[in-house]
Amino acid sequence: MDDSLDTDLTHETLVHDLNNVFETITEAAELLSADRRWKALAATLGRSVARGRRLLGAIPDSTPHLASIVDDAIQSVTDYCIAARKPRIRFVREIPGDIRLPGSAKDWERVFANLFLNTAQIMQKPGRIDIAAHHAEEALQITVSDNGPGIPPEILARMFRPHVSTKANKSGRSGLGLHIVASIVKRYSGSVIAANREHANGATFTISLPAL
Ligand SMILES: Nc1ncnc2c1ncn2[C@@H]1O[C@H](COP(=O)(O)OP(=O)(O)OP(=O)(O)O)[C@@H](O)[C@H]1O
Ligand SMILES: [Mg+2]
Repeated sequence: MDDSLDTDLTHETLVHDLNNVFETITEAAELLSADRRWKALAATLGRSVARGRRLLGAIPDSTPHLASIVDDAIQSVTDYCIAARKPRIRFVREIPGDIRLPGSAKDWERVFANLFLNTAQIMQKPGRIDIAAHHAEEALQITVSDNGPGIPPEILARMFRPHVSTKANKSGRSGLGLHIVASIVKRYSGSVIAANREHANGATFTISLPAL
């Protein structure tokens, strides 16, 4: 056989085939958008495809401004809530416009999308997520707090490890979201901790990063 066929069937070819999947979703979304009733859902599909392409590196990455990254992650999880018919989440931001993050925007979108998605998946009724950021001494501190049921005490100490999950339908693949969050934060020399709120229901995640 031709030696050139002996290629690495990993990232590049996976990107290729996932792009074909995205192509199909894009075509289907275009058909849907012709009907007024499905226009909004078609737009949701379009945004999800754009997100997927960005994660794959098929679309150039943007400059990581915290406020715009958080906005993208909010849009992503709001799309999820609509499509999955989950109770809506209200997001309250206290983020100074000039705060920048190190590295790649798509990494940070994964961080916030995973944190927000956990709340969206746990909430049984409409909820709220507060996101705040400020500089403290030489560090940037970002907090994400929700008013959900709080973190089960038995997993609190190990929830950033892979495959720790309370999801009912695990299928062996759950429990990766927070591991992804911790791995990305660590890549940028930061840390993330989780706690239950002291004077209210819900969980708080605190990310600390060296100031840029
Ligand atoms: N905001 C939160 N409030 C309460 N519990 C949480 C919250 N976020 C995470 N958890 C708990 O931590 C567990 C691990 O979260 P993680 O995101 O790592 O995995 P998962 O959501 O179960 O699965 P995956 O993210 O891989 O789909 C969850 O199953 C849940 O029990
Ligand atoms: Mg998760």
